[in-house]
Amino acid sequence: PYPLYAELRKTPVLNEDDGAYVVSTYHEVLSLLHDPRVSSDSRNMTQSAGIDLQDQQEEETTLPPSFIRLDPPEHDRLRRLTNTSFGPPHEPRRVHEMRGELGGIVSDLIGGIGDSGRIDLVEQFSYPFPVTVICRLLGVPREDEPRFHGWADTLAASLDPMPGEDPTERDKLTQKARTELGMYLAGLIEERRKNPQKDMLSELAVHKGPDGSMTTMELLSTAALLLVAGHETTVNLITNGMLTLLRNPQVLERLRTDPDLSVPLVEELLRFEPPVQLVPNRTTLADIEIAGVTIPKGASLWLVVAAGNRDPLRFEDPDRFDPDREDVRHLGFGSGVHSCFGAPLARLEAQVALSELARRLVNPRLLEDPPEYRRNAVLRGPRHLPIACDDIR
Ligand code: HEM
Repeated sequence: PYPLYAELRKTPVLNEDDGAYVVSTYHEVLSLLHDPRVSSDSRNMTQSAGIDLQDQQEEETTLPPSFIRLDPPEHDRLRRLTNTSFGPPHEPRRVHEMRGELGGIVSDLIGGIGDSGRIDLVEQFSYPFPVTVICRLLGVPREDEPRFHGWADTLAASLDPMPGEDPTERDKLTQKARTELGMYLAGLIEERRKNPQKDMLSELAVHKGPDGSMTTMELLSTAALLLVAGHETTVNLITNGMLTLLRNPQVLERLRTDPDLSVPLVEELLRFEPPVQLVPNRTTLADIEIAGVTIPKGASLWLVVAAGNRDPLRFEDPDRFDPDREDVRHLGFGSGVHSCFGAPLARLEAQVALSELARRLVNPRLLEDPPEYRRNAVLRGPRHLPIACDDIR
């Protein structure tokens, strides 16, 4: 039940020794996610916000900030341009059309599992599934995956505001991964400009609308953002989901016979075990008073969405996993202008994946509980999830 988060919530806005402010209660996190005085723009980060300005400038010579690290109006223009090829915000056309295709990918992966006596769910299912989907959507060849797997891993590790033992080495690796991923995508985009296909890269490359079109550099950082965001998060939603189901066999049994349960189930999972635990990289543009504390201008914020999701002032009995919960407006996809762009896709992927796993694995069980987790304070998920079952239907 996350004792650290319970402890943190006792001080809703906590000023850490390094100057960062850690916010852990639901209403305060939500309010700051919507506050226009809170910036996501990496260029507003100063040394006092924990990031070395010089590194930041060097970074910009490779890829410019993607829209997750920009404020309105620059953010809005790029997000709108990206939406034109993904479907309008509340009617994810492309995503809806993909349901059948997602089912096919899931079916092939489950069919290819082989030995049901020992399955690593992460390697054999939760990782390859969303990676295949995002590659198809963008138009990135799936067979190049071994090349960008490493870059995506490095970039995901770089999100962690606690950099580990050797921050300089980590910065160097991040830099290298960004440059290499940028160069790889630049090659693909050039190819698509000459020979457009039916995929997002082509559409973004040739699109011209009321907002104009993306420059090549904007297109590169948007493509890198989508590729990485579509890689490391849904993997954990599916793995955390199966782990939670195996710990709650009565829910798993209900899902086996009622795939529609997957819709509320996935929402409750995003509350209960959110793949993104905290939203770092926010800076205050003015003094902000909240929960009796004045956060000074220029401070960096860590918004702990996972602690907000377990806030007893917001959710009744928050440590209980309950897919029948009526009010589940979680913070798992963030909120406000940066709320997750890929949410409709991630939801659908997890619904299809979990209902099919429940239907096809006969008598599944955990071989390790708890499993070993990846070391990352932002993205939470097991490195491997060893399970077994009697048969695969
Ligand atoms: C933003 C979570 C899947 C693309 C976000 C944010 C969260 C989040 C918490 C807010 C970040 C912030 O406020 O700074 C998740 C989770 C996912 C998931 C839990 C899976 C379960 C995806 C997928 C894609 C995607 C599959 C790509 C297709 C994005 C983008 C943004 C974003 C582009 C930036 C939006 C903006 O700045 O306007 N996501 N995400 N996400 N996500 Fe996701």
